[in-house]
Amino acid sequence: MTHPILIVGAGIAGLWTALKAAPSPVMLLTGAPLGHGSSTGWAQGGVAAALGPDDSAALHAQDTVMAGAGLVDETAAMVLASAGASEVRALYDLGAGFERTTDGGWALSREAAHSVARVARMKGDQAGAGILQTLIEAVRAADHIDIRDGWRAEALLPDLEDGCAGVLARDPDGALHRLEAQHTVLATGSIGGLYAVTTTPWTSQGQAMVMAAELGAVIRDPEFVQFHPTAIDIGRDPAPLATEALRGDGAILVDRKGRRFMPEVHELAELAPRDVVARAVHAQNLSGKGAFLDASDAIGAAFPDHFPAVFKACMSGGIDPRTDLIPVAPAAHYHMGGIETDLDGSTGVAGLWAGGECACTGVHGANRLASNSLLDGLVFGHRAADAIKAAPARAVSAEKAEAPPALPDDALQSLRAAISAQAGVIRDGAGLSQLISLIDALQALHGPAPALIAARFLAVGALQREESRGGHSRTDFPARSVLAQPTRLRLDDLSNASLTPRQAGAA
Ligand code: SIN
Repeated sequence: MTHPILIVGAGIAGLWTALKAAPSPVMLLTGAPLGHGSSTGWAQGGVAAALGPDDSAALHAQDTVMAGAGLVDETAAMVLASAGASEVRALYDLGAGFERTTDGGWALSREAAHSVARVARMKGDQAGAGILQTLIEAVRAADHIDIRDGWRAEALLPDLEDGCAGVLARDPDGALHRLEAQHTVLATGSIGGLYAVTTTPWTSQGQAMVMAAELGAVIRDPEFVQFHPTAIDIGRDPAPLATEALRGDGAILVDRKGRRFMPEVHELAELAPRDVVARAVHAQNLSGKGAFLDASDAIGAAFPDHFPAVFKACMSGGIDPRTDLIPVAPAAHYHMGGIETDLDGSTGVAGLWAGGECACTGVHGANRLASNSLLDGLVFGHRAADAIKAAPARAVSAEKAEAPPALPDDALQSLRAAISAQAGVIRDGAGLSQLISLIDALQALHGPAPALIAARFLAVGALQREESRGGHSRTDFPARSVLAQPTRLRLDDLSNASLTPRQAGAA
């Protein structure tokens, strides 16, 4: 049997695409049990959209372009911003409890590099959890969606003619299934789990990027990783987040003596673009002066009510954020790069689509504007669903595929440590070359595990980009090049004799 639409991933992009695909039948593979394993549920800030009386789509697009350090696709930014308000209203109508003001407007937070307060929020820092809950209820109630809870895609099935013919999936009992589909949508999130310090689920290791590349998709800008400046530094893996909305509400960044350090770094101080704040926090921690968020004056006693998730995370680490300084460190938070798609989610590989964080339309450039990620999942997920419904039917005939080798845990942990050290907030050519040597050595031992191939895309992209721009900062190339050029890599470009695409074998 050939399914019309198969969606892999159950964060905001996967679930919204599935809902918007109605009435076409959709099979949805959730990876982890529905509601777990996606970054969406952990998002704190909310959804950026031009909803306020002082705002416009043009201003939102302009802020998106400015934050992206010269690499944002301006058409994509305008598409994103123009659809923002209607997507937020659609989610609200579905039941998502965005906060409203007494006069019927939207309660909006201000986050870094936004010209105005623009982030539709839910109970302070509960937007991701609230949106995910709403979407889960909707997909469970939708007749056109067949949910395969906990089924994980291991590989894509190549089509005998051309393109993608579905996925090889593992069910929760470990059995493999060949699921043929006319249209396969990858929406499995980030590469944050390749870093030792991340705010994303550690299971997010760039699997979609690798599967798509194996069928010939282009990987765009893999070197651009966004580091959130204020992960709570209490030794957790993944690290809990202290939302930027705290700084929007007046919390300040100080050293261990209580001295504010951002005003001398950037005119926007704590609300400077995220990459600037992340580098400053990193430098503070390296220097031994320390970096802390001080919300005691700005938020104080209102903390538990206004930011319940951050409050809970702090208290669990023995920090009372009403009065104590919160120790912070940058953590891998978002991948601006990924599978190159057009503005309708098409990867250019017949039958293969991508949405959400694993995709790259170019809308985030070198540095994503805060709270544009949930919006990306909504806007481009909706567009992909519309494009798939309008696409002609495809006859598919799947070739064989095999599950990739897994990376043993000790190897994965050494890879994560090396990626944080060599491809983190600050990079240089020598460190990136060392990282590639480690990947070579691990691959010689363990085979082409997806985590290694994803890591190689990241490291090769970072080594090739001989400049500093947005989230990519090289001490050996500190200046920004005059010409902003995207990186585009295919699997064959990862020039290493030990790296060969996995060959089809028996499933
Ligand atoms: C935050 O709340 O600080 C994170 C929002 C985002 O990453 O867009």
